[in-house]
Amino acid sequence: MQQRWNSDAYARNGRFVAQLADPLVESLNPQPGEKILDLGCGDGFLTRRIAESGAQVVGVDSSPEMVAAARARGVDARRMNGERLSFEQEFDAVFSNAALHWMRNQDAVLKNVLQALKPGGRFVAEFGGHGNIAAIRVALLAVLIPRGITPSRIESNYFFTVSDYRSRLERGGFQVVQISLTPRQTPLPSGIDGWLNTFRHDLLEELPGGDRAAAMDEITNLLKPVLCDEEGKWTADYVRLRFVARRS
Ligand code: BEZ
Repeated sequence: MQQRWNSDAYARNGRFVAQLADPLVESLNPQPGEKILDLGCGDGFLTRRIAESGAQVVGVDSSPEMVAAARARGVDARRMNGERLSFEQEFDAVFSNAALHWMRNQDAVLKNVLQALKPGGRFVAEFGGHGNIAAIRVALLAVLIPRGITPSRIESNYFFTVSDYRSRLERGGFQVVQISLTPRQTPLPSGIDGWLNTFRHDLLEELPGGDRAAAMDEITNLLKPVLCDEEGKWTADYVRLRFVARRS
């Protein structure tokens, strides 16, 4: 099932995602005049930042709400799913932040990215990797399975190891320049409530009114000892898979 996005909730609770992406943009090193594709551009906050380099940036996202929010920011944003891109050797680089873990058919995504790149073009991306949000996932499974929600519905992301993703990139026609998996404790400015209401909204909406609040309380109580400090500040257990690859 496709995740539905609320661009206002994302701006309130998910802005930290783009704010932590400076090192990834540095790795992309966009140059004036380059043509760059931002795959899974969301509300276009980072797309705009990349465009400040003087590069010509196109954003694509599968969510109509996010495409509308990106366009409102002045981004050339198009509604397109990474599994069904239709670009042919147009881009010097493809960039993607915190988006690939939402895409089920990675081999199709990699095929489309390869096809979108000019020969020698680069693919620079970061997303959740193996072990990402482990505590949050266990708490969701513990609270939602007894309420009749299936594990496959709860586990709606795809988190890969380095060796798995390296093989996929190489099989897909890329030369891997660099790839790493790094734990990154990530402060959640709106707490675990904000995170759950933004990224697991659809799942929690399946629960009837009173039970939603009870489930949120249970998830919060399970996570509090591991993700919340004595001052009440929440941190998510993110693990980032980051790579730079080139079209061979
Ligand atoms: C992430 O950025 O790692 C992430 C965000 C929301 C849901 C799952 C993963």
